[in-house]
Amino acid sequence: MLKNLGTWLDSRTGYKHLVHEALEEPIPGGARWRYVFGSALSGTFMIQLVTGVLLMTSYSPSSSTAWGSVWYITYKMDWGWFIRGLHHFGSQAMVILLLLHMVQVVLAGAYRGPREVNWWFGMLLLFVTLGFSLTGYLLPWDQKGFWATKVATKIASGAPGIGPAIEKVVVGGDDYGNQTLTRFYGLHVGVLPALLVLFLVGHIALFRKHGVTAPAKAQGSEKFWPKQVFYDTVATVVVFGVLAYFAWKEGAPLDAPADPGSSNYPARPEWYFLSLFQLLKKFDGRYEFVGTQVVPGAIVLVLLLMPLFDKLLPRRFAHFLACMFVFSLVGGAGYLTIEAFREDARDPSFVAGRKLADDATKRALMLAKDRRGGIPPTGAGDLLNHDPLTRGMAILEQKCLGCHSYEGKTQAGPDAPMRGFDLAHFASNEWIREFLADPSHPKFTARVPTAPGAKTSKRLDGMVKWQESRGIDDKNELDQIVSFVARLGEIPADVTVEEWAANPNLKNQWGYKIFVENCLQCHTAGNLGSRGKEVSAPSLFAYGSPQWLAKMIKNPETKGYYAFLKSHERMPGFADQLTPNDLEMVIRLLRDDFIGMPEKFTPQGGRGRVYTAD
Ligand code: HEC
Ligand code: HEC
Repeated sequence: MLKNLGTWLDSRTGYKHLVHEALEEPIPGGARWRYVFGSALSGTFMIQLVTGVLLMTSYSPSSSTAWGSVWYITYKMDWGWFIRGLHHFGSQAMVILLLLHMVQVVLAGAYRGPREVNWWFGMLLLFVTLGFSLTGYLLPWDQKGFWATKVATKIASGAPGIGPAIEKVVVGGDDYGNQTLTRFYGLHVGVLPALLVLFLVGHIALFRKHGVTAPAKAQGSEKFWPKQVFYDTVATVVVFGVLAYFAWKEGAPLDAPADPGSSNYPARPEWYFLSLFQLLKKFDGRYEFVGTQVVPGAIVLVLLLMPLFDKLLPRRFAHFLACMFVFSLVGGAGYLTIEAFREDARDPSFVAGRKLADDATKRALMLAKDRRGGIPPTGAGDLLNHDPLTRGMAILEQKCLGCHSYEGKTQAGPDAPMRGFDLAHFASNEWIREFLADPSHPKFTARVPTAPGAKTSKRLDGMVKWQESRGIDDKNELDQIVSFVARLGEIPADVTVEEWAANPNLKNQWGYKIFVENCLQCHTAGNLGSRGKEVSAPSLFAYGSPQWLAKMIKNPETKGYYAFLKSHERMPGFADQLTPNDLEMVIRLLRDDFIGMPEKFTPQGGRGRVYTAD
C-alpha cells in the first residue's frame, strides 16, 4: 500500500531521484566527524530562520516601539525569552561555526582547484553572516546595540570612495534614527536572508558537484546515509542544546532604551568585531585608515586569492602558507579580542561608564515592569527621560550640585561660589522639622562669599538669627508649625494667594496661630499678618509645591522669592537652561515624587536574572 503510494508520488514528482541525490552521495574515505561543520552551520541557520520568523510576529521596527516590543518578547510573551535567546546565541554560534568550518576547509585543502568558486561562495556567506549580526544587533534599539552599531558603521564609512555613500544609504540620513532602524530591519529580514539562501544553494550545489575533499590516503567510500547524516544531525542537536542552555541560563540581554543624546555610554562592538576595533586603536589618528581599510582589505584580498596561489607556488608550499595565514589570522584576532577585554577591565572610565549603563538598564527594566510605570506611549526612550530618579538626577548633577548637595552628595568644593541647601526630600515633613529645629546645621546654611570685597547682606542668615533670638524648642509647637508649613506645599496650583488667605477654614488649621506669630515678622504669605515691613525673606505661600519650586528654580529673582538679595548673592535662574520636562523631573525628584527602586527584582516573574540594589 505505502509502496504503491510511493511509486505513484515518484512518477509524478521524481522525488526518489532527489532523495537518492541527497542521501546516497558517496563519501570517499567514509563519514567523518570533521565534516559536520557545514551541516551544523546550515542547521543553525535553520534555527535562526525559524526563531527569526517567530520574532518577526511580535517585533515592531520603529525607534519608539522596538525596545518595548523586544522587552515584551523577552519578559512577557510565553516562551519569548527562549525564542529570542536561541536567536541571540544562534547568531554567535554561526560566527564561531563559520570560523571552524573555514579552518577545517583550509586544513583539508578544500579551497583549492577545482573548488575555487565554492571557496568564493563561502566567503560571500561569511560576509552575509557578518551582515546579519551587524544589522540584528541594532534591532532591539537598546543602548548597547545602538552604540555598537554606530562604531561599526563608522568603521565602514571610512572605506575609500564609496564609504560615505554606503554609510548614508544604510543609515538613512546623517544620523542614526528611525530610518536607520527600518533599513537595518529590511536588510536583516529581507535582503540578507535572500542572499544567504541564494549563496547557500550555490555553495551546496557546488559541494555536491565536487564532493568532500578526502584525505590523500583515504580508502574505500561510504554513502552519505546513514552515518554522515547521523553525525551531522548529532552536531546540529548539540548546537541546539548549547543554544538552549545559554538561552535558559544567561538569557539574551536587553540594555536600557537607546538614547542618542547620551555622551558617556562606553560604546563597544559585538565581540566578533572587537578585534577590528582593537586594531583601530593601534592606528589611532593619522594612520587610522590603515586599521580600518588597509589591514582588513588586505586580509580579505589574500583570502579571496588563496586558491590561486597554487598556480604560482608549489602546491604543498602554497597549502602550507595558506594554513599559516589562516592560523595567524585566527590567532591574531583572538589575541586582539582578549587584549580589548583586558584593557577595558583595567580602564576606570570604561568600568565607571559600564556601571552607569548597568544601573540605567536595571532602572529601565524595573520601570517597564512596574504597574505604576510601564512603557510610555511616546516610546521607550521616554522611560528614563520621564523618570525623576534618572533624568532629574542627571540634571541635578550637571547643574545644581556645584552649590547644593543631595543626600550629602555634592560637587561643591570649599571654594564653591555659593552654598545652597541639601535638596533631598525638599520641604517634606522631616526636612522642615530638621530645618526649623536647627537652621544652622551645615546642611541648611547658605553662604555667599562670591567676589572678594563684595558686600553681603546680613539677611542671608535670617533663620539662624531667628533661631538665636527665638527658635522653637517646644515639641508641640514644633509639630504644629511643621504640619502647617508642610501643608503649604499641597496648595493646588490654581489657588491664588488671595483665595487661600480668604478661606475661613485657614484660621482653624493646626499651627496657624504659631505660624502667624513666629514667622511673619520676616516672611510673607499674602496679606496674612502682614507687618507692612520691607520684605526680607521669601514668601511662604505654597512653599515647596511644584509651582513654587518651578518659580524658584526658573527665576529666584521674582518678587516673593529671593528678590531681596543682591544678584551676586542669589542663586542664578535656570529659566532658559531647562526644558519643561527637565524642570518637571527635577521638581519631582526634590519632592520624592517618583517610583522607588526596590532592593531586588526580577524583570520577569519567577524566571531569569535577579537584579539587586547594588
Ligand atoms: C551657583 C550656586 C547654585 C546653583 C548652581 C544652584 N543653586 Fe539653588 N540655591 C543656591 C542658593 C545660594 C540658594 C539659597 C537661596 C538664594 O540665595 O537664592 C538656593 C536655593 C535653592 C532652592 C530654594 C530652597 C533653598 O534651598 O533655599 C531650591 C529649591 C534650589 N536652590 C534648587 C536648585 C536647583 C534645582 C538647581 C539646579 C537646577 C540649583 N538650585 C542650582 C545656589 C545655587
Ligand atoms: C528673623 C526673620 C525670620 C523669621 C522670624 C523666620 N524666618 Fe524663615 N527665613 C528668613 C530668611 C532671611 C530666609 C532666607 C535665608 C535663609 O534661607 O536662611 C528664611 C528662609 C526660610 C525657609 C527656606 C526658604 C527656602 O528658600 O527654601 C523656610 C522654610 C523658612 N524660612 C521658614 C520659616 C518659618 C516656618 C518660620 C517661622 C517659624 C520662619 N521661617 C521665621 C527669615 C526669617
